Amino acid sequence: MYKIALLPGDGIGPEIIPQAVRVLHAVGQRFDREFQCETALIGGAAYDATGHPLPEETLEVCRNSDAVLLGAVGGPKWDNLEPHLRPERGALLPLRKQLGLFANLRPVMVNYALADASPLKYDLVAGLDVLIIRELTGGLYFGEKRREDLPDGGQKVVETLEYTTQEVVRVVRLGFEMAQKRGKKLTSVDKANVLESSRLWREVVEELAQEYPDVELNHILVDNCAMQLVRNPKQFDVMVTENMFGDILTDLASQLSGSIGMLPSASLGGGVALYEPIHGSAPDIAGQNLANPLATILSVAMMLRITFNLEEEATAIERAVDGVLQQDYRTGDIMQPGKIRLGTVEMTDAVIRALRQE
Ligand code: NAD
Ligand code: IPM
Ligand code: MN
Repeated sequence: MYKIALLPGDGIGPEIIPQAVRVLHAVGQRFDREFQCETALIGGAAYDATGHPLPEETLEVCRNSDAVLLGAVGGPKWDNLEPHLRPERGALLPLRKQLGLFANLRPVMVNYALADASPLKYDLVAGLDVLIIRELTGGLYFGEKRREDLPDGGQKVVETLEYTTQEVVRVVRLGFEMAQKRGKKLTSVDKANVLESSRLWREVVEELAQEYPDVELNHILVDNCAMQLVRNPKQFDVMVTENMFGDILTDLASQLSGSIGMLPSASLGGGVALYEPIHGSAPDIAGQNLANPLATILSVAMMLRITFNLEEEATAIERAVDGVLQQDYRTGDIMQPGKIRLGTVEMTDAVIRALRQE
């Protein structure tokens, strides 16, 4: 029996999570596995129902599960609440922190069938397989934040970027270990020409590199990295970087795969891992059966592989997703001339059909 906490959240979250759960149960049926799911409130939905975006009960449900599957949180309705009540700062960040999820794995894989959907040239992206590891519980997101009134009537804001050696060591070590299992190349992304935190980051990387002589290590400055990801993404294998750089670079990298609606993620480090698409609540398309469910469905595959060690089941989902793309099924975000346009539910139907036919 595998216990999973479901946190649909806001916007398209409550549309994509039930679809991913249908796929989960279809896999369960095919491989004779039982997944027990419990749904809990988070984000704006939780605020509306309880007055807080991360109720204690939700944390309990997560802690009592083997893994968490999250949709997305946030939206215009809650944008102007006090910081601790806003879905992003009041729920998502504390959830990651409280569960100890310091490493966020964001694989960027480009399906051959979708390489044409990328704004980049086919050959640059077709078959791309890069793993971006984003530090998730440190940096600017979690530093001191305060405002002061100034005599001139304006304000001063202080926002600190903090990292300890140990926080860098644990995520960079994971980077080296992942690189060892893959193409044996690690790129550490920083801004060591300016930031002291990046100086420390680079020192730690250099020191750890001694323990991984079989991994080819490169350092790259984050601005150049953004440029290189567009110029020649296939030069990268595993990349590791601090929290905010990783946030920005992965949205950029999502375009290599055709859409942000394609990229799954796994957040690891504590006892319970969390799986979520890298995209947000997409308020502009919410409630219209338009959202691409594949990033969430692929996040379920990551969950099966990483938390439950169900490799065959995970691969079955990934192959089913490949299959529907090869059959020319597309949601709006990856739509191209001559392809077959499907909604959120119908795309999931197609994945489930492919799963059963394999
Ligand atoms: P977003 O990722 O929600 O949307 C950006 C664009 O991508 C939009 O045009 C959207 O329609 C499109 N898009 C995103 N996911 C898609 C999908 N699955 N299928 C098709 N199209 C998709 O980013 P945003 O607009 O900057 O943020 C909206 C809200 O989501 C904000 O409140 C933000 O804080 C929140 N957010 C939450 C998370 C999370 O919960 N993990 C992540 C990012 C943003
Ligand atoms: C993400 C999101 C979050 C982040 C926001 C909503 C706080 O953009 O998961 O990528 O910046 O971590
Ligand atoms: Mn983001």
